[in-house]
Amino acid sequence: MTLNSMSLRSLDMPAESEPELLCILGTGDLGRSLGERLLQSGFRVVYGSRRLHGGSPLLSDPRVQVTSHEAAAQSANIIFVCVHREHYEFLATMRNHLQGKVLVDLSNNLKKDMYPEANAVYLQRLVPKAAVVKGLNTLSAWALQNGLLAGKQVYLCGDSAEAKQAVAQMATKLGLSVLDKGSLSAARELEDFPLKLFPEWRLPLSVALGLTAFFFFYLLIRDVIYAYVEKKDEISYRIMVSLANKVFPIVALIMLSLCYLPGAIAAFLQLYRGTKYSRFPNWLDRWMVSRKQMGLVALGFAFLHVTYTFIIPIRYAVRHKLISRIKKNKTTPFRFDNTEAWGTDSFVTLGILGFFLFVLLGITSLPSVGGSLSWREFNFIQSKLGHLTLFICTAHGYVYGWNKFLLPSTYKWYTPPGFMLCLIVPSVVLVLKGILLLPCVDRTLTLIRQGWERTQPK
Ligand code: HEM
Repeated sequence: MTLNSMSLRSLDMPAESEPELLCILGTGDLGRSLGERLLQSGFRVVYGSRRLHGGSPLLSDPRVQVTSHEAAAQSANIIFVCVHREHYEFLATMRNHLQGKVLVDLSNNLKKDMYPEANAVYLQRLVPKAAVVKGLNTLSAWALQNGLLAGKQVYLCGDSAEAKQAVAQMATKLGLSVLDKGSLSAARELEDFPLKLFPEWRLPLSVALGLTAFFFFYLLIRDVIYAYVEKKDEISYRIMVSLANKVFPIVALIMLSLCYLPGAIAAFLQLYRGTKYSRFPNWLDRWMVSRKQMGLVALGFAFLHVTYTFIIPIRYAVRHKLISRIKKNKTTPFRFDNTEAWGTDSFVTLGILGFFLFVLLGITSLPSVGGSLSWREFNFIQSKLGHLTLFICTAHGYVYGWNKFLLPSTYKWYTPPGFMLCLIVPSVVLVLKGILLLPCVDRTLTLIRQGWERTQPK
């Protein structure tokens, strides 16, 4: 297939006097949002539409032309097809106008395997003399309208390398980062991407579910069943608040530490291998990319813990205990214990500080906030403040249990309490981070990350 070589060569040229003209077929939500973004990135836009006067203010913009499908397609070299697959037939009637053009197929389907062949393959069959590129279909009209594109990864595939290059250059100007997925046979895979349900949330949610289930049953046995079997105490009501208020912070703390563990593992791997150029194992890659979601799930659990903590005084069981003490006129002399007061005040203060930093981390991980920070600022908050948050929340757990660690009654049926178990992973992460901060280790790691490689003895 030969493309309009004039047009593609012009893409490689430096500054042109007139901005490049791009064609969009379709004036629906997606077409309009894409057009707006293209205009803002310095392109000119021509719409091909059946209705030549749309109601949208964009279509009345003097920088925008709206004309017939044929005339629009004739005037540009890159043509975005923003219509549903069911309406593609009209493109077959325009074959002559589309010869040598780059057709970008942005379509998606409502469910998997809706049609025997991918939309882009079908389009290529309808217009064999054009170069079809499947891509940008993971961008929603909403993301385009709100300009949430910086650094966002998009995928392309197609049989013509020139056409893909032209589309990739255009996408880069929009601030997108482009990944070439190969020939048009990958189109089906690309069309399935938007149909995946929260793929990057799957791992964090499974971890959260697994930890919640484990600690729920562990604490149920230790706190409720133990009391019933050993003391004939019926305290099953504790499941609702007390038990939940143990499970939630435990899961929050472990998951927060799981956000920082893969970074430490990756650093030790690089130190061991003496290079940054070998690939990490797949499981580590997957873990790394789900850190943000892991952190947000952890934040959700921390929120639950804080909410549950503040309702403790209004619980029936707590009020009943207080009232019955007063009614019985218990006059046990109250001895003020300064150490105990220091302990509780410190642990609550650490909790509040930890939670504050945790919320700050969550807010900066939102694209709209993170996007407004420089890379150094973002890195500072997510790494330095992140480790500080982990340190403070772990300290909250340690101070909470400071007088319980050595009490034999803590180890019901010889099992350690939940808060002790949940301190293991965060403590390991903090120790590993401490080792990585040692000047000799930090220096070597920085060198490796700057590209230096340790030569292997032959
Ligand atoms: C336990 C308060 C934030 C982790 C507790 C307890 C209180 C408390 C009162 C004892 C609960 C009980 O006796 O059942 C607070 C306050 C916070 C806060 C006021 C902030 C406003 C956090 C955060 C984390 C955390 C951000 C970690 C991500 C823990 C852990 C326990 C705990 C692991 C031990 C749970 C257990 O009893 O096994 N916190 N906390 N807390 N908190 Fe917090």
